[in-house]
Amino acid sequence: MNPKAHQPDSLPAPGPSALAQSEALIARIRAELESAGGWLPFDRYMESALYAPGLGYYSGGARKFGLRGDDGSDFVTAPEMSPLFAKTLARPLAEALQASGTRELMEFGAGTGKLAAGLLAALDELSCEFDAYSIVELSGELRERQRETLEAAVPALANKVRWLDTLPERFEGVVIGNEVLDAMPVRLFAFSDGDWRERGVVWRDDAFAFDDRRVADARTLALLAEIETSGDDYVTETHDAARAFTRTVCTMLTRGAAFFIDYGFPRHEFYHAQRAQGTLMCHYRHRAHGDPFVYPGLQDITAHVEFTGIAEAGVEAGADLLGFTSQARFLLNGGITEVLGEFDPSDSRRFLPAASAVQKLLSEAEMGELFKVIAFSRGLDETLTVFSRGDRSHSL
Ligand SMILES: C[S@@+](CC[C@H](N)C(=O)[O-])C[C@H]1O[C@@H](n2cnc3c(N)ncnc32)[C@H](O)[C@@H]1O
Repeated sequence: MNPKAHQPDSLPAPGPSALAQSEALIARIRAELESAGGWLPFDRYMESALYAPGLGYYSGGARKFGLRGDDGSDFVTAPEMSPLFAKTLARPLAEALQASGTRELMEFGAGTGKLAAGLLAALDELSCEFDAYSIVELSGELRERQRETLEAAVPALANKVRWLDTLPERFEGVVIGNEVLDAMPVRLFAFSDGDWRERGVVWRDDAFAFDDRRVADARTLALLAEIETSGDDYVTETHDAARAFTRTVCTMLTRGAAFFIDYGFPRHEFYHAQRAQGTLMCHYRHRAHGDPFVYPGLQDITAHVEFTGIAEAGVEAGADLLGFTSQARFLLNGGITEVLGEFDPSDSRRFLPAASAVQKLLSEAEMGELFKVIAFSRGLDETLTVFSRGDRSHSL
């Protein structure tokens, strides 16, 4: 039952209860494989590996977010790294609330709740008036963690927060999602022998394995035909779930703005001949590798975002593309240096970690350039300060 082929010695071994959870998930996915005739498209595998109730990576008990592998975490995100991220992000959100005359916020995929706590505190400090902060979270385990974080960090504001089980048909306000699009299942495609095939999952020799099948649907074939591969053995992804999600959010948004922050590229860079192995990536104890069959349910599986497709999906739903820029430009325009300036440089115990986190958020070699911000709006007549300089919408 245990896929021995996918337990690399180079990764720390999970404990017995984590392994038991992984084995239960493997059994569940094998049952799914069987009822699907022995082959699952990769996005169905990824969906289960991340979100199968109680067993998937996000829906099970894995710690996920943290600074180091020895605390049992697997990766760090900007709001986990520094409170200055939320404090800076609060400024364009406040500007968007004011410009649209709306009074509600909605966060997708709120992780540990740190971004929500930081935003609530910073909006309050900015004297920005709002009525509610709704969180849409697929994972019950994370909802609980979010509730605890908020009650501990912002007890006086936690009563504004509510968790939604279903999306409202219409929403007037400001939507935010940090690293949510990259956590959505992708389909994999491989080019070999002059032909595109969809890469799916089978169970072979006591382990999950890849297996490629002919592509049938015309829309996908048309997209793949546009890609200039570097020749044989080119593998890439399409982002059907993230596009559908963007369409849903932008349809729901009847007035206001929606911001998504994530790593990725415009289409011409994403489907580049040199990106021959695609962007699928797994994170386990702060080590990145490319094998999605290692410890199913215990490791994160993610792919970079193809932002042109996201922009198309939002516009198809009737929203305006408000802006697209790098995280560094967005945070600089948003005033991160002023936010850092609130720290006293002579108080090195507080100032130095804050300055070092700002450097990570802005540096081209770290998060500043790889991470982008895409925003949509409806009913906003003007652009926002964060997109006033360095907007790269033309590159999509
Ligand atoms: C990489 S984590 C990022 C968490 C947090 N935003 C942060 O920056 O630390 C991805 C999050 O997206 C959530 N997620 C994925 N798909 C979602 C969807 N369709 N609706 C709401 N949340 C979703 C996951 O449950 C998880 O909380």
